[in-house]
Amino acid sequence: MKRKARPLGNAQNNTNLKQYVMKNIAVIGAGTMGNGIAHTFAQFNYKVQLIDISEAALKKGMETIIKNLDRMVAKEKISEADKLKTLANITTFTSIKEGVKNTSLVVEAATENAVLKAKIFKELDEVCDAETILATNTSSISITQIAGVTKRPGKVIGMHFMNPVPIMKLVEIIRGYNTSDDVMNFTVDLSKKIHKIPVEVNDYPGFVANRILMPMINESIETLYNGVAGVAEIDTVMMLGMAHPMGPLQLADFIGLDVCLSILNVMYDGFKNPKYAPCPLLVNMVNAGKLGVKSGEGFYDYSESRKAEKVAKMFR
Ligand SMILES: NC(=O)c1ccc[n+]([C@@H]2O[C@H](COP(=O)([O-])OP(=O)(O)OC[C@H]3O[C@@H](n4cnc5c(N)ncnc54)[C@H](O)[C@@H]3O)[C@@H](O)[C@H]2O)c1
Repeated sequence: MKRKARPLGNAQNNTNLKQYVMKNIAVIGAGTMGNGIAHTFAQFNYKVQLIDISEAALKKGMETIIKNLDRMVAKEKISEADKLKTLANITTFTSIKEGVKNTSLVVEAATENAVLKAKIFKELDEVCDAETILATNTSSISITQIAGVTKRPGKVIGMHFMNPVPIMKLVEIIRGYNTSDDVMNFTVDLSKKIHKIPVEVNDYPGFVANRILMPMINESIETLYNGVAGVAEIDTVMMLGMAHPMGPLQLADFIGLDVCLSILNVMYDGFKNPKYAPCPLLVNMVNAGKLGVKSGEGFYDYSESRKAEKVAKMFR
């Protein structure tokens, strides 16, 4: 046993914010991010209520959690007993109303769409206890705008986890215009309890992470679109030349090209600046259903392996 994740949740959770007696945590969306967020909280012994509108997405999300836990057991990062305990901490729901009962915190990680998030937060505000904190994992949509559809804007905050959640240390914590200091402190404190490193930022389109990352990804796609170099060449330049652990095109495939497009559109609309306009090739690929790893093809072909070993047929 090399390194063991220490459970710090529920019983041991002595937050100094006395008004927040820690109850359960609901996670909305069981996709790429939602299942990782659920996994991480559950591993630190929080009781998690994982909600998705789609039964199939819940099933796939739980399968991913099991696969990732198995990998951690194989690498001796956790024991088989830790795995079983983590899984026992997660319950699944297809109804938001049922899934948010008895929760201190809801982390929304549904599809990146402002209209959808507004609808979800309106419902959350109606069905959650008055003291429940509502966090969103949005990559770019304004926290202040999301908070504006609720009657509790002080209790709405951005909790932007990175992909893959069980591994990546950073949580970008976004303070909306009305987010209270108590809610900010609670969220920072909770992030530390699950062994993440929180960084506090303010609420402007793309926050910090994507404001810097997405123009780089978009420029890489533009470089490919302009015929300057191929997929593997662009990624190799950035990996070997800039010491990036993976190339920007591969990273875009991992994030999901639809997610990248949504984020760029939010920044384009938010800043009214053409430098954020998504490359037409990215738009075309999303329209064609080539979304990266999750659809099996993006800039690379994932039909045989998730390792981006083969450039997609389109770009060979
Ligand atoms: N993919 C990334 O690398 C990444 C990184 C950080 C943040 N984010 C953000 O996380 C959020 C989720 O992204 P993702 O990549 O996990 O998306 P995804 O497409 O993998 O999963 C979204 C899930 O939300 C579910 N959903 C849609 N509407 C719902 C509703 N009304 N109620 C409950 N569930 C609903 C879908 O069925 C799907 O399972 C987005 O806001 C995205 O911007 C993504």
